[in-house]
Amino acid sequence: MIFNQVEQASADPILGLTDAFKADPRAEKVNLGVGIYKDESGATPILKSVKLAEEKLLDSETSKSYLGIDGVQAYNQAVQTLLFGKSHDVVVKKRAATAQAPGGTGSLRVAAEFLVKNTAAQTIWVSNPSWANHNNIFNSANLAVKQYGYYRPETHDMDFDAMCADLNTANAGDLVLLHGCCHNPTGIDLNSQQWEAIAKLCLDKQLVPLFDFAYQGFGAGVEEDAQGLRIVANIVPELLVANSFSKNFGLYNERIGAVTLVAESSTIANKAFSQVKSTIRANYSNPPAHGALIVSTILADEALSELWQQELQQMRERIAQMRGLFVESLKACGVEQNFDFINDQNGMFSFSGLTKDQVNQLKVDHGVYIVGSGRISVAGMTKSNMPVICKAIAAVLANS
Ligand code: LMR
Repeated sequence: MIFNQVEQASADPILGLTDAFKADPRAEKVNLGVGIYKDESGATPILKSVKLAEEKLLDSETSKSYLGIDGVQAYNQAVQTLLFGKSHDVVVKKRAATAQAPGGTGSLRVAAEFLVKNTAAQTIWVSNPSWANHNNIFNSANLAVKQYGYYRPETHDMDFDAMCADLNTANAGDLVLLHGCCHNPTGIDLNSQQWEAIAKLCLDKQLVPLFDFAYQGFGAGVEEDAQGLRIVANIVPELLVANSFSKNFGLYNERIGAVTLVAESSTIANKAFSQVKSTIRANYSNPPAHGALIVSTILADEALSELWQQELQQMRERIAQMRGLFVESLKACGVEQNFDFINDQNGMFSFSGLTKDQVNQLKVDHGVYIVGSGRISVAGMTKSNMPVICKAIAAVLANS
């Protein structure tokens, strides 16, 4: 017998919350844990642009034969255009190679395994705090994880000096995980000058950036949100990007993302990319087609692209509206503590500063589920659940 020796795994800090939420019998419970967009009615809709693309695919698809190891070629090209823009040196000189991969997580895992197996990079620097799954992914790929300072809890803002100081102690060849936009969990991003400074630091110290880019279009817009990546790619010759279309196309369960390798030249990129493909072949052979075909169908069609951009804008604007309403509603519920900083955060999340105990009380006493770090999914707030959420937070704060 071997399975009786296996120890119980601890619940995932984000997805485990959804399981606990589902098992909670209370009617007024609210799940603000996992980052999933909800509309005003509390549903996670399929975008119209996606439905239209699926209709097109239903008519035009003629085979379910295997894709190549790196997936749908039109999709991979479209990914590069979204990431860098058509006229960036990386695209014009064909210095990038992209493989479709299963979501942001799958893309990060492929990137990490490729790096560990084929390069001298054995350590990755990750912001403190960061997405809870980063540690898991990188540890599973045998990368050593170190943390760089990023956030100052006392003032609820960026600690850029700590970030630079920590990265200055990194060794040549180390990797640096950077959140392309809408930093998860803090919602605090680098500005253009800071991106430039980090890019120069990476160049000087020979650090290799690995971008986690899961929220393009949820900050200021598709182009605006890519500025950090493009600034870094102007300065640093080699980098990797793991991007996801779970959120910006609402394609959560299609698991659609990509890993993009950027090198000094097209020749070097293609040679290194052959090992990315070997990594994929040893993991899942080749990716599933549907999500990539949806994205590439939309991006190849002007009218569908336009519709997608509008739908993305609506999601972005609704989240921003909820952010403002959240801060106002907390005040209206008598909360004296200042939460105005939440208005300055980008993307799906607000990093509330609530303690682990307070987070637990919210769950146990009020059925309001947020991540243990105090991260709240603003994208799950609606006008109807807002009073429940804010009354619960006010009660917990009054109790602390
Ligand atoms: C999140 O941070 O909530 C999302 O990226 C979903 C996930 O897989 O954790």
